[in-house]
Amino acid sequence: KTPPSIRVLNKEYRADEWTNISPSISSKLDAHTLSIPAHPTNILKQLVFSLFPTFAHYDSLSPIVSTYDNFDSLLIHKDHPSRAKSDSYYINKETLLRTHTSAHQVQLLKAGSEKNTSLLSQNKNKNLDLASGNINKRFLLAADVYRRDEIDASHYPIFHQVEAVSTFSTKNLVDEIDADTKARIDNTNKLARSLNLNLNLASTSDDLSSISKENPIQSYHDEESVILLSNHMKSTMNNLVSFILSQVPSTSNSSADAQSPLPVRWIDASFPFTSPSWEMEVWWNNQWLEICGCGIMKQDLLINSEMGDSIGWAFGFGLDRLAMILFGIPDIRLLWSNDERFISQFTPGKITQFSAFSKFSPCYKDISFWLPPESNEFSFHENDLSDLIREIAGNLVQDVKLVDSFTHPKTNLKSLCYRINYCSMDRNVTNEEINSLQNQLREKVVEKFGVALR
Ligand code: PHE
Repeated sequence: KTPPSIRVLNKEYRADEWTNISPSISSKLDAHTLSIPAHPTNILKQLVFSLFPTFAHYDSLSPIVSTYDNFDSLLIHKDHPSRAKSDSYYINKETLLRTHTSAHQVQLLKAGSEKNTSLLSQNKNKNLDLASGNINKRFLLAADVYRRDEIDASHYPIFHQVEAVSTFSTKNLVDEIDADTKARIDNTNKLARSLNLNLNLASTSDDLSSISKENPIQSYHDEESVILLSNHMKSTMNNLVSFILSQVPSTSNSSADAQSPLPVRWIDASFPFTSPSWEMEVWWNNQWLEICGCGIMKQDLLINSEMGDSIGWAFGFGLDRLAMILFGIPDIRLLWSNDERFISQFTPGKITQFSAFSKFSPCYKDISFWLPPESNEFSFHENDLSDLIREIAGNLVQDVKLVDSFTHPKTNLKSLCYRINYCSMDRNVTNEEINSLQNQLREKVVEKFGVALR
């Protein structure tokens, strides 16, 4: 008898008592919204990448990881609650869908010393090449992550994170931090100028007096270095979030004031792979919004990655809720919508506001016709067509687009094709109803404009 197995992303896995990945989740594994050019999460990812020109950029690592990568490599204890079957999608006892982008931290740190070119060559930042030797020192990693979760307008079992890891050689800490700070500020200002943004970049200078006993400076580290490092991390995150939120139209944030820095607070947190650790919160629309977890990397993790002579910080930052704020998207499910009316609203590289469309299905009908010859007494204007369509279909028409226009080389006659989107805001419409409207339209365009239907 063959043991039970399960197929995920075209690969066969042994199934066991841990297997709980559902067909609806499996079916979304190849959605890859982070590689759809006009997808809001991808536009935001690109924006984040552009703010880190000295980091390697990864965005196509497989979501299927080992429990070693997702937990053990991050020093997460064998009986830590985050390993529970109830919270994650397991393929089997040793394999699961990553629950956070931190799952790749050690892999990518090690890739340098192991000269793992197949992994390192996935870097998308063309400013950094494999030969630089620094490629695994600082990196960003964007990916889809999976957690079993409640269902509402802001939760979905799949979301997107960007992990940032930034390490510095212990011997050269001050110089490396200074150089990186300068590069970051220059780059951010350049981008801000090109977008005409009025940015107020705050730099953080905490003394760490607020950190708790449960969240201490590690015994490997001296206080001075940790203060330097954590201020560098917090300023970097501050810049990142300020830059992103400065692009939200001011009308959508009642607490915004372009002139003053974004109000931010750092809440004591605890992660097995960082200490001290914080959660960053931002004051937005009259409430504190949780943005991301972060901290000083556990030195054992760096030692295990053959990077013991460095120290570093890491943060993990959720893209979806910020994308919703940035693009004015009211429901997280829209980010997973296959509806053309969603994705067609956005433009790669641009931040634009989403406008709501009906939750009832659209119905597209094309009409094509030859315009009469010039000499004819008829004339055709697009606005006349619009009026005619409104007369016939009223509010059932959502939009009309010219989808093709063509002039015959011999007859010199011009042919046009319009696509009409019939869609109600408040009810489902039947096919018969729309066919009858479309037939009326076909009759009337001939009558009114003297065209010949194709
Ligand atoms: N991986 C953590 C999470 O998903 C966030 C985190 C990343 C915290 C890096 C610290 C450092 O909650």
